[in-house]
Amino acid sequence: MRVLALETSCDDTCAAVTDGARVLSNVISSQARFHERYGGVVPEVASRHHLELVNPVVAEALDEAGVELGDVDEIAVTRGPGLIGALLVGVSTAKALAAAHRRPMAGVDHLHGHVAANFLEPDPLDPPFLCLIASGGHTLLAAVRDRAGFEQLGQTLDDAAGEALDKAARLLGLGYPGGPAIQRLAERGDPDAFEFPVAMRDDRGLDFSFSGVKTALAYAVRELDADEVEARRADLAAGYQAAVVGQLVDRLERALDADGWEAVALGGGVAANALLRERVAELCRRRDLRLKLVESRLCTDNAAMIAAAAGSVAPTPYPGYLSWDASA
Ligand code: KG4
Ligand code: ZN
Repeated sequence: MRVLALETSCDDTCAAVTDGARVLSNVISSQARFHERYGGVVPEVASRHHLELVNPVVAEALDEAGVELGDVDEIAVTRGPGLIGALLVGVSTAKALAAAHRRPMAGVDHLHGHVAANFLEPDPLDPPFLCLIASGGHTLLAAVRDRAGFEQLGQTLDDAAGEALDKAARLLGLGYPGGPAIQRLAERGDPDAFEFPVAMRDDRGLDFSFSGVKTALAYAVRELDADEVEARRADLAAGYQAAVVGQLVDRLERALDADGWEAVALGGGVAANALLRERVAELCRRRDLRLKLVESRLCTDNAAMIAAAAGSVAPTPYPGYLSWDASA
């Protein structure tokens, strides 16, 4: 079955065409350059850019897949969570495209999408598996027992991991998005030069917290003068990245201790992080678990993952979805 999917929940305008587990196209138009000067996503700016980008991005996805809109069996779209104005652009566009060809439409949960990225080729992973999702908006551990959804085992109590990296990058005068910038700088730094706390080490729960490590960085920067910060930025980035990744791996390990999982997967933008991938790979080797690491284009926000999740969502036939309220 051919699915055209749209994803506009944050600052990436995405469209993809899939045929079963095969990705025929996966177009991502990042708006990062428009938000860089603000050090984060400005919701109103994101909505306006989605409006400009969505039609060309859909056209490119169809073109790259070599299909016409009429060849598509179903339209899928992210219905939330996300920035309301940004979601509205995707949902309205999907409604119009689906209605034009009287196609059914499926509204997909964004986080289910991150989980479902693992169902795609190459080497699709079938549930059950334990999935760590870490992005700019969310950080959670998901017990994925079937394709239809997941159970949330733990989540962040404050910032998301990606948000903590983005805020640290702003503090260190790096660009947006902060995760990749911190990763690049950290390659030249000593992760042990500064001490950063790994939160809730003694609490045996599966929740996350990144406000402590963020405060520790703010204090470390405050104690240095501008030249010292400049000279030691790589060490600060390396220590900070190690603390964020350390906490993610620590919680993943706890969840593995609690239940007999045989496979592990990562999702969300932070899953593109090289240190996290390396540490989780090492953990899975040690425990003899299957590890599924999707390529980074499927980790960060994309529409192919939305098409993958739509495979287990009952679509609404035309014209039922025309009355959908995108803000509900
Ligand atoms: O999943 P995503 O594209 O969007 C959300 O749903 O939030 O995740 C974006 C987040 C940003 O915070 C970004 O800094 C982070 O993922 N990120 C990374 C890397 N690439 C993206 N964090 C660490 N290392 C990376 N290589
Ligand atoms: Zn996301």
